[in-house]
Amino acid sequence: MKQQLATLISQNIEGITPEEALPLLETPPKPELGDYAFPCFRFAKTMHKAPNLIAEELAEKLRSSSANIENNISNSFIEEIKVQGAYCNFYIKKDYYVQTMLEDACRENYGGSEIGKGQSICIDYSSPNVAKNFHVGHLRTTIIGNSLYKIYSKLGYQVNRINHLGDWGTQFGKLIVAYKTWGSKEAVEERGIAELMDLYVKFHAEAEKDESLIDQARAWFVKMEQGDEEALSIWQWFKDISMVEYRRVYNLLNVDFDSFAGESFYRDKTQAIVDKLEAAKLLTESDGAYIVDLSEYDMAPCIIKKADGGSIYATRDLAAIYYRKETYNFVKCLYVTGQEQKLHFRQVFKVIELLGNDWAADQLIHIPYGLVSLEGAKLSTRSGNIIYAEDILLEAITKVKEIIAEKNPNLEDKDEVAKIVGVGAIMFHDLYNQRIKDVSFKWENVLNFDGETGPYVQYTHARCCSLLRAVPDFTEDAAIDYSVLTDPDSLALLKSISKFPKAVQDAADKYEPFLISRFAIEVAQSFNRFYNSNRINVEDAAVRNARLKLTAVTKNTLRDALDLLGIGAPEQM
Ligand code: ARG
Repeated sequence: MKQQLATLISQNIEGITPEEALPLLETPPKPELGDYAFPCFRFAKTMHKAPNLIAEELAEKLRSSSANIENNISNSFIEEIKVQGAYCNFYIKKDYYVQTMLEDACRENYGGSEIGKGQSICIDYSSPNVAKNFHVGHLRTTIIGNSLYKIYSKLGYQVNRINHLGDWGTQFGKLIVAYKTWGSKEAVEERGIAELMDLYVKFHAEAEKDESLIDQARAWFVKMEQGDEEALSIWQWFKDISMVEYRRVYNLLNVDFDSFAGESFYRDKTQAIVDKLEAAKLLTESDGAYIVDLSEYDMAPCIIKKADGGSIYATRDLAAIYYRKETYNFVKCLYVTGQEQKLHFRQVFKVIELLGNDWAADQLIHIPYGLVSLEGAKLSTRSGNIIYAEDILLEAITKVKEIIAEKNPNLEDKDEVAKIVGVGAIMFHDLYNQRIKDVSFKWENVLNFDGETGPYVQYTHARCCSLLRAVPDFTEDAAIDYSVLTDPDSLALLKSISKFPKAVQDAADKYEPFLISRFAIEVAQSFNRFYNSNRINVEDAAVRNARLKLTAVTKNTLRDALDLLGIGAPEQM
């Protein structure tokens, strides 16, 4: 519609091509001002006329030219053109408007595009630290990363989901010492990560009294780096134990990865980085350690090799970038972590650039997010004050089960629905604001079925499903009478739905899934207004079918928007 309008305008005013006219077409702030507005200021200079006069003339020409046969464009879809100051305001014929929006919303992969076709993207997210609990911060990176994966996939990109596990480093030397000194196989097997965390805490307490423990730990990590069998088998066991717990969380969230190549994967690839830096004369010695000086860029130096010869987090990230570029040939590599790692990524990306990779500045992108605070949320914790993401998810599911038992005890698949709604509530809450904003967690807000929440969107979706179930002979692709849907609430709902493609593209461009959750809320609210003012299952078949069609389109759009957030949409709640 916009395109046709742009063509018509360019045919009736001098000095503008359809391509130039298109982006100038605005959506007026109020529906009284029409569906599109075209500002005429820019022609004042060349035409030596006041802009409002130009607008008048343009409107007049458009009104009188009924059809342009040459270009096969007719302005018959325009109901009215009004001039307001320097603007031409276009009022589109309502049934035409309805038809266009509805047909658009019914196309395959609505909301998506093929803009990313043939291009590969890496998203590095979740990435918990082995032998440590999967906490609420890791929950956020997992949820945001998963949503970005869905969003980019919808735009046609081939997305590689990478879990850069924190599974290497001196902490494992400490853990081995602690395990050999105070631990037992049974306790680790029984308590899993909780036991490993306790051993780690014990190590630090004891090391304050006995410094030789630190040396022992260092020696064990050196053994690991040298490939010692015993050291590696204990390490692998800790990793396996941890993975069992992480997988439980991933199953609850319905999240998966294409690669679990974590830090340990790069242990034999860091020397190549040291060599490259040396050849490029970027490496300097400092107190026995090797660093890249970044003072010119107002950053602390990037440490590459510690005085004891061990590699570190940054070195492994540098190796990972080379590996990923080679393996995936990405056009973008995104890193979703807390904002406390901002400096780390700036340093690493700068070093890659200094090594002559001029694509680094555009293609390596850190996606930071704010903190999660749990004030107000009483949570059961399994040891001390340590909070496990899994416990929060399980608690949400339990709470939803209680709500179902009270409100809809005969619901089919109760347990499955409780899981989708409980987990979805937490995911939606995490994705409802800009990433960088802190999230504060209160059950009343997370699970409120009437607020701006996941359950509210899911509930609206389920309501659409139940309306459609009530009329079994309705089919989604039957022809309908568009004029039925020209009342303000139906139109407003269609307008909300029509924002989907832009919401998806904007969410991808800004790496902001909250643009999708806001969109979903807007559609759900518009639907509920439409539903309150229009009876759907009426006698008149034309009216009934048109309203059911809009209900079906709403249902599909809500389901697809929730899916982009990683959230399921049960048909009954
Ligand atoms: N394991 C790290 C943490 O928990 C996150 C890793 C992020 N990814 C990366 N390539 N550095 O803080």
